[in-house]
Amino acid sequence: MQFKGKIKSKMPQQGLSIFAVMTGLANEHGAINLSQGFPDFDCHPELVELVHKYMKEGHNQYAPMPGVPQLREALAAKMEQDYGMRYHPDTEITITSGATEALYAAITAIVQPGDEVIVFEPYYDVYVPVIRYSGGRPVFVKLTVPDYRVDWTEVQAKITPKTRAVILNNPHNPGTSVFTKEDIARLEEIVSGSDIILISDEVYEHIVFDKEAHHSLAAYPRLAERSMVISSFGKTFHTTGWKMGWCAAPEALTAELRKIHQFITYSVNTPIQHAFAEFLRRRELIDGLKDFYQKKRDFFVELLKATPFKIIPAQGTYFQLVDFSGVSDESEMDFVKRLTIDYGVAAIPLSAFYHNMNDHRIIRFCFAKKKETLEQAVERLCRI
Ligand SMILES: Cc1ncc(COP(=O)(O)O)c(C=O)c1O
Repeated sequence: MQFKGKIKSKMPQQGLSIFAVMTGLANEHGAINLSQGFPDFDCHPELVELVHKYMKEGHNQYAPMPGVPQLREALAAKMEQDYGMRYHPDTEITITSGATEALYAAITAIVQPGDEVIVFEPYYDVYVPVIRYSGGRPVFVKLTVPDYRVDWTEVQAKITPKTRAVILNNPHNPGTSVFTKEDIARLEEIVSGSDIILISDEVYEHIVFDKEAHHSLAAYPRLAERSMVISSFGKTFHTTGWKMGWCAAPEALTAELRKIHQFITYSVNTPIQHAFAEFLRRRELIDGLKDFYQKKRDFFVELLKATPFKIIPAQGTYFQLVDFSGVSDESEMDFVKRLTIDYGVAAIPLSAFYHNMNDHRIIRFCFAKKKETLEQAVERLCRI
């Protein structure tokens, strides 16, 4: 069918997300897909049973706009246990359709035309289009390469009276770095006395390695009082396809977020919310996640040692970065395309996470995969 009218695009520069591009290419060429961040193993069978149970019990109509109360209460308890901060389930926690919706709602709720928002590069791909769509201006601060740390002096220098927000992502995708206590202290210093709002994307909060701790902004009262802390059930419970996330924020910020949320989705999947409310009690699964993914990281890194890539240590998330400059001087984009088509393994070029496609010859593999998948992928990578 052909649309004959004129369309004035609201996002004229916006192409297809790199995840859709690489997953499409992987499918087309029958490649092992280590590009997009999702597990190739199933979630816990009890969780599926619980969803089924709540469906059979008739929890099949709209949930309340902010989320099922039992789930908001369970999350308030979880956040208090994890970070020592008590969020009020009625006024400070909102269930969203994945962290993606929470990010969209948070950014559109607070960014006004002309506002500046500090974004660290490389950045997860949702932030910048939504800032621009809201009339804001992203102000980029590059993380150091290859350890992907924040230069707080540069952040300080880039703050102006127009700075409305800073978007943080910790543990960092794609950088795989995690904040230290010093990072938190510097952040506190920089925002103290300002009206800056912090949007903190913490979807990998439970995937931090080598006995390091996750420093959620929720754990620091002077930061929490100005923060919208966002996370995702998909990453913690291997259910990315269910698209369930949440935002915890002080009442005034939550009220603004909900004004947007109610007109994006109104509310999200009722039986799944009930299931998570019950399943969050399985604390051992949450606490065991670090160890589960650290074993996968270590297994994958051992295998990768046989390839010509330089391995960049990962402190968190379920991604592994490698430097391919010893193998090729192609651009990251050309290299990942060739890797997919000629060798049958799909990865993500880090340049896709920079606004001007900065190229350091570093690519990202997702290791949230079965042992056999990782073995098969590295066997192919060894042919390079
Ligand atoms: C840093 C980061 N934020 C947000 C998301 C989106 O989470 P969800 O699938 O819950 O929308 C992802 C997913 O990969 C991510 O890596």
